[in-house]
Amino acid sequence: MISSYKTMQLTLLSCLLLLACNSAHSGSISKGKSLAFDRSKGNCLACHTIDDGEMAGNIGPPLVNLKMRFSTRDALFKQVWDATTINSKTSMPPFGRNKILSEEEIEHIVEYIWSL
Ligand code: HEC
Repeated sequence: MISSYKTMQLTLLSCLLLLACNSAHSGSISKGKSLAFDRSKGNCLACHTIDDGEMAGNIGPPLVNLKMRFSTRDALFKQVWDATTINSKTSMPPFGRNKILSEEEIEHIVEYIWSL
Protein backbone atom coordinates (compact mmCIF):
# COMPACT_ATOMS: atom_id res chain seq x y z
CA MET A 1 0.00 0.00 0.00
CA ILE A 2 2.72 2.42 1.04
CA SER A 3 4.78 1.74 -2.05
CA SER A 4 1.88 2.30 -4.42
CA TYR A 5 1.21 5.60 -2.64
CA LYS A 6 4.87 6.53 -3.22
CA THR A 7 4.60 5.58 -6.87
CA MET A 8 1.56 7.78 -7.20
CA GLN A 9 3.38 10.67 -5.56
CA LEU A 10 6.32 10.23 -7.89
CA THR A 11 4.08 10.10 -10.95
CA LEU A 12 2.33 13.27 -9.87
CA LEU A 13 5.64 14.99 -9.25
CA SER A 14 7.03 14.07 -12.66
CA CYS A 15 3.84 15.27 -14.32
CA LEU A 16 4.18 18.63 -12.59
CA LEU A 17 7.84 18.88 -13.58
CA LEU A 18 6.99 18.07 -17.17
CA LEU A 19 4.33 20.77 -17.19
CA ALA A 20 6.71 23.32 -15.70
CA CYS A 21 9.43 22.49 -18.24
CA ASN A 22 7.03 22.62 -21.14
CA SER A 23 5.79 26.06 -20.26
CA ALA A 24 9.31 27.35 -19.69
CA HIS A 25 10.48 26.31 -23.15
CA SER A 26 7.50 27.17 -25.22
CA GLY A 27 4.57 29.47 -25.21
CA SER A 28 0.93 28.75 -24.89
CA ILE A 29 -1.21 28.48 -28.00
CA SER A 30 -4.25 30.26 -26.53
CA LYS A 31 -2.20 33.15 -25.12
CA GLY A 32 -0.41 33.39 -28.46
CA LYS A 33 -3.66 33.62 -30.35
CA SER A 34 -4.99 36.49 -28.26
CA LEU A 35 -1.66 38.35 -28.46
CA ALA A 36 -1.52 37.88 -32.24
CA PHE A 37 -5.12 39.09 -32.69
CA ASP A 38 -4.94 41.96 -30.14
CA ARG A 39 -4.87 45.20 -32.15
CA SER A 40 -2.70 46.88 -29.51
CA LYS A 41 -0.23 43.94 -29.28
CA GLY A 42 0.84 41.85 -32.28
CA ASN A 43 -1.89 43.17 -34.55
CA CYS A 44 -0.81 40.49 -37.01
CA LEU A 45 -4.29 40.57 -38.59
CA ALA A 46 -3.53 44.03 -39.95
CA CYS A 47 -1.42 42.29 -42.59
CA HIS A 48 -2.09 38.53 -42.41
CA THR A 49 -5.06 36.24 -42.75
CA ILE A 50 -4.86 33.94 -39.71
CA ASP A 51 -7.14 31.15 -38.62
CA ASP A 52 -10.63 32.53 -37.82
CA GLY A 53 -9.38 36.12 -37.42
CA GLU A 54 -11.76 38.78 -38.70
CA MET A 55 -11.07 41.78 -40.98
CA ALA A 56 -7.62 40.56 -41.93
CA GLY A 57 -5.35 42.53 -44.25
CA ASN A 58 -3.40 41.03 -47.13
CA ILE A 59 -0.11 42.93 -47.08
CA GLY A 60 1.61 39.73 -45.95
CA PRO A 61 0.89 36.09 -46.87
CA PRO A 62 -1.76 34.07 -44.99
CA LEU A 63 -0.17 32.39 -41.97
CA VAL A 64 -0.79 28.71 -42.67
CA ASN A 65 1.43 25.64 -42.94
CA LEU A 66 4.40 27.49 -41.53
CA LYS A 67 6.13 24.18 -40.82
CA MET A 68 6.51 23.84 -44.60
CA ARG A 69 8.12 27.28 -44.90
CA PHE A 70 10.29 27.27 -41.76
CA SER A 71 12.43 24.24 -40.99
CA THR A 72 12.60 24.99 -37.27
CA ARG A 73 10.54 26.78 -34.66
CA ASP A 74 13.61 28.96 -34.03
CA ALA A 75 13.62 30.15 -37.63
CA LEU A 76 9.97 31.14 -37.23
CA PHE A 77 10.81 32.91 -33.96
CA LYS A 78 13.48 34.90 -35.84
CA GLN A 79 10.97 36.00 -38.47
CA VAL A 80 8.70 37.47 -35.77
CA TRP A 81 11.56 38.81 -33.60
CA ASP A 82 13.11 40.73 -36.50
CA ALA A 83 11.80 40.10 -40.01
CA THR A 84 14.45 42.45 -41.45
CA THR A 85 17.14 39.82 -40.83
CA ILE A 86 15.40 37.71 -43.49
CA ASN A 87 14.28 40.52 -45.82
CA SER A 88 15.81 43.94 -45.17
CA LYS A 89 13.03 45.67 -47.17
CA THR A 90 10.09 43.99 -45.42
CA SER A 91 7.21 46.09 -44.15
CA MET A 92 6.75 43.68 -41.20
CA PRO A 93 7.71 45.44 -37.94
CA PRO A 94 10.68 43.96 -36.00
CA PHE A 95 8.52 43.05 -33.00
CA GLY A 96 11.37 41.85 -30.77
CA ARG A 97 14.17 44.20 -31.78
CA ASN A 98 11.89 47.25 -31.44
CA LYS A 99 10.43 45.93 -28.16
CA ILE A 100 6.88 46.07 -29.52
CA LEU A 101 6.43 42.64 -27.91
CA SER A 102 8.41 40.94 -25.16
CA GLU A 103 10.37 37.74 -25.78
CA GLU A 104 7.75 35.83 -23.78
CA GLU A 105 4.91 37.29 -25.84
CA ILE A 106 6.67 36.32 -29.06
CA GLU A 107 7.19 32.77 -27.68
CA HIS A 108 3.41 32.48 -27.22
CA ILE A 109 2.69 33.84 -30.70
CA VAL A 110 5.23 31.48 -32.29
CA GLU A 111 3.68 28.55 -30.40
CA TYR A 112 0.30 29.53 -31.83
CA ILE A 113 1.23 30.13 -35.47
CA TRP A 114 3.54 27.06 -35.50
CA SER A 115 0.41 25.02 -34.67
CA LEU A 116 -1.65 26.30 -37.63
C1 HEC B 1 2.65 45.88 -41.47
C2 HEC B 1 2.34 44.55 -41.94
C3 HEC B 1 2.71 43.35 -41.12
C4 HEC B 1 2.40 43.07 -39.81
C5 HEC B 1 1.68 43.96 -38.80
C6 HEC B 1 2.86 41.74 -39.56
N1 HEC B 1 3.45 41.21 -40.67
FE1 HEC B 1 4.21 39.32 -40.87
N2 HEC B 1 4.74 39.75 -42.80
C7 HEC B 1 4.47 40.93 -43.47
C8 HEC B 1 4.95 40.82 -44.85
C9 HEC B 1 4.84 41.91 -45.91
C10 HEC B 1 5.49 39.53 -44.98
C11 HEC B 1 6.10 38.90 -46.26
C12 HEC B 1 7.54 38.57 -46.11
C13 HEC B 1 8.47 39.76 -46.18
O1 HEC B 1 8.05 40.91 -46.32
O2 HEC B 1 9.68 39.52 -46.09
C14 HEC B 1 5.35 38.89 -43.68
C15 HEC B 1 5.77 37.60 -43.40
C16 HEC B 1 5.50 36.92 -42.23
C17 HEC B 1 5.83 35.55 -41.99
C18 HEC B 1 6.47 34.61 -42.99
C19 HEC B 1 5.36 33.97 -43.78
C20 HEC B 1 5.84 33.09 -44.88
O3 HEC B 1 5.03 32.27 -45.37
O4 HEC B 1 6.98 33.23 -45.29
C21 HEC B 1 5.42 35.24 -40.74
C22 HEC B 1 5.53 33.92 -40.02
C23 HEC B 1 4.83 36.44 -40.19
N3 HEC B 1 4.89 37.44 -41.12
C24 HEC B 1 4.29 36.52 -38.93
C25 HEC B 1 3.74 37.68 -38.40
C26 HEC B 1 3.23 37.77 -37.05
C27 HEC B 1 3.19 36.63 -36.07
C28 HEC B 1 2.79 39.05 -36.88
C29 HEC B 1 2.23 39.67 -35.64
C30 HEC B 1 3.03 39.55 -34.43
C31 HEC B 1 3.04 39.75 -38.12
N4 HEC B 1 3.60 38.90 -39.02
C32 HEC B 1 2.72 41.08 -38.35
C33 HEC B 1 3.83 42.04 -42.95
C34 HEC B 1 3.38 42.16 -41.66
